[in-house]
Amino acid sequence: MDSIVIKGNGPVNGQIPIAGAKNACLTLMPATLLSEEPLTLTNAPRLSDIKTMAELLASLGTEVAGLQDGTVQALGTKEITNHVAHYDIVRKMRASNLVLGPMLARMGHAVVSLPGGCAIGARPMDIHTDALEQMGATIELKDGYLHAKTNGGLKGAMIKLRFASVGATENILMAATLAKGTTVIDNAAKEPEIVDLAECLRKMGAQIEGEGTSRIEIQGVDRLHGATHPVVTDRIELGTYMLAPAIAGGEVELLGGRRNLLEAFCDKLEEADISVTETAKGLLVKNKGSRVKAVNVKTEIFPGFPTDLQAQMMALLCTAEGTSVLEETIFENRFMHAPELTRMGANIEVSGGMATVTGVDQLKGAPVMATDLRASVSMILAGLAAEGETVVSRVYHLDRGYEKVVRKFSGIGAQIERITT
Ligand code: EPZ
Repeated sequence: MDSIVIKGNGPVNGQIPIAGAKNACLTLMPATLLSEEPLTLTNAPRLSDIKTMAELLASLGTEVAGLQDGTVQALGTKEITNHVAHYDIVRKMRASNLVLGPMLARMGHAVVSLPGGCAIGARPMDIHTDALEQMGATIELKDGYLHAKTNGGLKGAMIKLRFASVGATENILMAATLAKGTTVIDNAAKEPEIVDLAECLRKMGAQIEGEGTSRIEIQGVDRLHGATHPVVTDRIELGTYMLAPAIAGGEVELLGGRRNLLEAFCDKLEEADISVTETAKGLLVKNKGSRVKAVNVKTEIFPGFPTDLQAQMMALLCTAEGTSVLEETIFENRFMHAPELTRMGANIEVSGGMATVTGVDQLKGAPVMATDLRASVSMILAGLAAEGETVVSRVYHLDRGYEKVVRKFSGIGAQIERITT
């Protein structure tokens, strides 16, 4: 198993290029199931999750090539030759459940394993299945698999989501492009990844209006054609690296970053006395040399503060002047990084969905364990500011969502290396 070793050695300075969004790419790739023609995704991140999705699509009949050079060349799906998304793939990556909508729309039949729980929560799929049933699918749970089928194809429906689920919005959006008639998604998720998916589907011939708002309307069409589409910038990678100069001191320019991807997060950084400036190339983040201020954070659906940046923000607030309260409202168990940060001398009290963080003068390096994707990178951020050496184990979590993480951090002067233990 690999570990990452960080030695806190003062301010960081330089530039970091931001990659294409993992969570956009993981919903764009299943869209290839909707068409016989090739879908080419450029600016795709080089991540293990992308490889896993390519394996899954290949098992269903889509030829996927060109993963290496940041381009996913999905050669289209002439025929879906297998309609089962197996547990051993889905349990590794929940996003595998995004083949359900496209497979139902294209062939009227799908068997998809429930993802099972993961570190951060139970992550059920009731919002997905309720909506697809309103579109005419019959779905039953057998042996941990959702067995879904439609007689005569999906029909458009007026769907109101009980919660603005990102994945459910994506599954319904893809399914509705080939359904008969009009589908309206009310209380739809508004994340930039949804907007990116809608723009790609429109290039493929879909008729969609309203993406990025809470009401999306889709007119079903008979077929979709191929397209080429650039994956949107990864706002979670962006926010993660913005915290490097914030926690360690210094000034870093995030190439390709845009403030409108992370408005609420940027506002919180400025409230903590970190400067964020838009430049011609991206976002410039500067620690003004004074200690960051404590701020209260509540995670919310877009455009609120992203849950995927909560662990990273907690690392910063462990070093702040004063006491901060972080409220996690999206997932029921997303504070596993707290005990690991406490091992580094942080002062954190967790009670249910609330974490109270009292800033300390100095974090101390320690051996810590990555528990999930975003928690793993919050350990690295804490290590940048800590005195001494921090060793983060189980870094396979990192490889799922952060491309070239050691190179990007060392590129701004961090003392960091990956070792095989
Ligand atoms: C997406 O997950 C992201 N993953 C997550 O990022 C992100 O944290 C999440 O959206 C929220 O923004 C991908 O895009 C691949 P949800 P998703 O459906 O679609 C509950 C990362 O680190 N829920 O919006 O699974 C669910 O349990 C990952 O990159 C139901 O109850 O998120 C959760 O508590 C982590 N029933 C909440 O809604 C359902 O049918 C949000 O889930 C669906 C969801």
